[in-house]
Amino acid sequence: MEQCITIESLRHARNTLGNVGFVPTMGFLHEGHLSLVRRAKAENDAVIVSIFVNPAQFGPGEDFETYPRSLEQDMALLAKEGVDIVFTPKAGDIYPQNYVTEVSVKGVATQLEGASRPGHFTGVATIVTKLFNIVQPQKAYFGQKDAQQCAVIKRFVADLNIPVTIITVPTWREKDGLASSSRNVRLNPEEREKAPALYKALQRAQSLFQKGERDRNVLEKAIRDTLKQNNIEKIDYAKIVDPLTFQEVNPVSESGIALLAVPFSQARLIDNLPLALE
Ligand code: PAJ
Repeated sequence: MEQCITIESLRHARNTLGNVGFVPTMGFLHEGHLSLVRRAKAENDAVIVSIFVNPAQFGPGEDFETYPRSLEQDMALLAKEGVDIVFTPKAGDIYPQNYVTEVSVKGVATQLEGASRPGHFTGVATIVTKLFNIVQPQKAYFGQKDAQQCAVIKRFVADLNIPVTIITVPTWREKDGLASSSRNVRLNPEEREKAPALYKALQRAQSLFQKGERDRNVLEKAIRDTLKQNNIEKIDYAKIVDPLTFQEVNPVSESGIALLAVPFSQARLIDNLPLALE
């Protein structure tokens, strides 16, 4: 496995490879990330993983400085998976002083996470576009865990005619149902015990949907009620939307997806579940 730090060295190393599957990450890798890597490995000649904690997608007062980092352990995990190249660029090379260009997505990027975290998706769309241009992969892999991020990426890839196929990989969960996340280490023991309620609340909406409930308000209330029954009082949002546009839909269609965001003391967690999923 080769580590590339400069853009030039990455381009050079990439040119020796055939079809590339690309997995962009911010590091502090867990099984969820590795499930993307394994899928990429199975479907391509070679796999490139990037590790870059992207300052542009963190808002003021968010956790950029304290975002967990563990490069050495990440490298060991990726070597074990048989990854070909790990790209770990420096922020100064990605955003040099004269940098003034952004990729800004309207529509799908404006609700939910977009509304709660202004500028977040512009930061994501900009870095992912840059990484696509640097790595030039045939396929790129993203987690369903960040459903709105997937929708935003699919939107700008189509809008800007970027020649890469976007693959969405199912959410990887801990044994108790909590979606794996780099931020889970920030939960205190009491919060960690409560956190599986996020998935339970989404499953409650899914089960009602599968029994025939199509009223968005009923389904959203079921999510909020389940969270409250599990002593989670503060809820950022609990919504049912269309998975491509992220617009609220009523009555809810087969493609509807339930999403929530819950702030804990040191971490804000998100999760989602497509309602028609088996
Ligand atoms: P990060 O949070 O490190 O996630 C990297 C990729 O792993 C994303 O596609 C995310 O959806 C996926 N992922 C995270 N947890 C997962 C889980 N439990 N199951 C399945 N996939 C999971 O998302 C980002 O980084 C950044 O926004 C990035 C795309 C790298 C741009 O900076």
